[in-house]
Amino acid sequence: MNSASTVKMKNTAKATSVTDKRFKMLDATIKRHQYQQDALIEILHKAQELFGYLENDVLIYIAHNLKLPPSRVYGVATFYHLFSLAPSGVHTCVVCTGTACYVKGAQAILANVEKSAHIHAGETTADGQISLLTARCLGACGIASAVVFDGTVLGNQTAESVLERIKGWLQNGSI
Ligand code: FES
Repeated sequence: MNSASTVKMKNTAKATSVTDKRFKMLDATIKRHQYQQDALIEILHKAQELFGYLENDVLIYIAHNLKLPPSRVYGVATFYHLFSLAPSGVHTCVVCTGTACYVKGAQAILANVEKSAHIHAGETTADGQISLLTARCLGACGIASAVVFDGTVLGNQTAESVLERIKGWLQNGSI
């Protein structure tokens, strides 16, 4: 994987494919730490902040950039409880709570999801359907509020649009 890894990013009107800016932001953090292997924990923190959890691809990406064996990166990520390697739900909803999204109503989005799914951020519904996570700036501020549904970043989200999708997941297991 490289920093040009893409995700499907859509706004409510139409779908467009753009570069996943989260990897660019992770790159900037790695560079700021001058690719120092000692900065692994700080970099993992940033990655979790950006992605909501430390998925496999992200760990490999960090290992590659710091020239560390993946086993070492996995070892550190699994040792500390504050890192989560995967959401446990079938579906994952990551609500961006960065400044731009906050201004555009991220708190209302988060509150609505928490209320309808009966979970708090960082938790998974009892039936294992939905994991709710938060991230601080997905690098998509221009389309705030941004929410990631199962790895797909959607822009211009509102409490209502997010709720619609969450209800679909709760009712059908998919949407
Ligand atoms: S603050 Fe949400 S994408 Fe930047």
